[in-house]
Amino acid sequence: MRTILFTGKGGVGKTTVAAATAVRVAQRGARTLVMSTDSAHSLGDSFGVTLGDRPVEVAPGCRAAEPDAQRRLERSWGDIRGYLREVMEWAGVDSIEADELSLLPGVEEVVALTEIAAIRRRGDVDVLVVDCAPTAETIRLLSLPDVLAWYMARVFPAGRRLSRALGPVVSRVARVPIADDAVFASVERLYADLSAVRDILRDHRRSSARLVVNPEKMVVAEARRTATYLSLFGYRVDAVVANRVLPDALTDPWFDSWRASQAEHLETISTSFAPAQVLRAELAAGEIVGLDALGRFAASLYDDLDPSAVLATGDPLRVRSEHGRRILEVELPFATKDELDVAATADELFVRVGPYRRAIFLPDSLRGREVVNVALTDGTLRVSFDR
Ligand SMILES: Nc1ncnc2c1ncn2[C@@H]1O[C@H](COP(=O)(O)OP(=O)(O)O)[C@@H](O)[C@H]1O
Ligand SMILES: [Mg+2]
Repeated sequence: MRTILFTGKGGVGKTTVAAATAVRVAQRGARTLVMSTDSAHSLGDSFGVTLGDRPVEVAPGCRAAEPDAQRRLERSWGDIRGYLREVMEWAGVDSIEADELSLLPGVEEVVALTEIAAIRRRGDVDVLVVDCAPTAETIRLLSLPDVLAWYMARVFPAGRRLSRALGPVVSRVARVPIADDAVFASVERLYADLSAVRDILRDHRRSSARLVVNPEKMVVAEARRTATYLSLFGYRVDAVVANRVLPDALTDPWFDSWRASQAEHLETISTSFAPAQVLRAELAAGEIVGLDALGRFAASLYDDLDPSAVLATGDPLRVRSEHGRRILEVELPFATKDELDVAATADELFVRVGPYRRAIFLPDSLRGREVVNVALTDGTLRVSFDR
């Protein structure tokens, strides 16, 4: 299954581009599904239909859905929530508050994300197009599997042994509610689901993220940061869509300075996001709603390019050998030294860029070796390990 995620700042045209891409991919014969993980769903508005949890056909071969994360949450992880509620009640948090607290922030988006793995398992979709939440949420959402995996690997096996061994004693003495097997089963399922999604999205031969921007200073600046963070977490950006470019047909001098500033930003975009391809879409004469408008928009955006093609590949994280030394490379486009922190243990490398951190489990070939050099050059972090 080919998976394409669209993200970018609020209002730049993510939903429009995602919907249009799906329409065009389906026209070329692929079984296509477009879904939104943004809890402020607007995919239905784009198609001019009402969408819900179940995918419905919006065009031949093209289905669309707005997953009901709240309902899925209730169904899949009721056990975990129930347990958290018990613990909080035990700790003296009253039950209404506990109810709110046990809805962990971001959980809804995680649920929407796990849907990607479920769709892949069902096997009836060739191309999955995902209309993501605005940038900040998307990055948090995409880094969650990693963060959770880290905790699960450390906290849960121990916690489980502890609770199995001490369960009866602890319950009697301290009366702390002990998570039962159903809770552990739920946590394990969540962990498995998230790992599956992470593995799908990190497969740069089949999954890509596309950044939607408008040729404006602040939008491009945010897109740069997003490109850095996506790469940190191992997700390949294969295209940047510059949307709302003023059309040449618009000759009114009132737009002259807009056009000049757009030209400048388009130039920056086209030179700085390589290897990602840059695609352009003009500002349309009106809102882009409904199949016809989406189809026309997609035709001008992709021209004769296959919209489902992988437009840039390469793992943003790789190991190379140089003069007998092994070097771990992490592409961090646009990152600067002052926002970067690197620390290593025997089997992990911690990389922080600005507010985002990733713990990278070292491959066997690097484990236990000493780090002898760390350098950031041309947007790539290079960590050299002793022979
Ligand atoms: N190239 C364009 N020309 C004209 N209108 C556009 C264009 N791209 C998006 N729009 C309109 O702008 C609004 C916001 O777009 P949307 O795709 O919902 O943005 P986002 O999902 O990034 O918040 C919609 O009404 C959409 O029809
Ligand atoms: Mg949107």
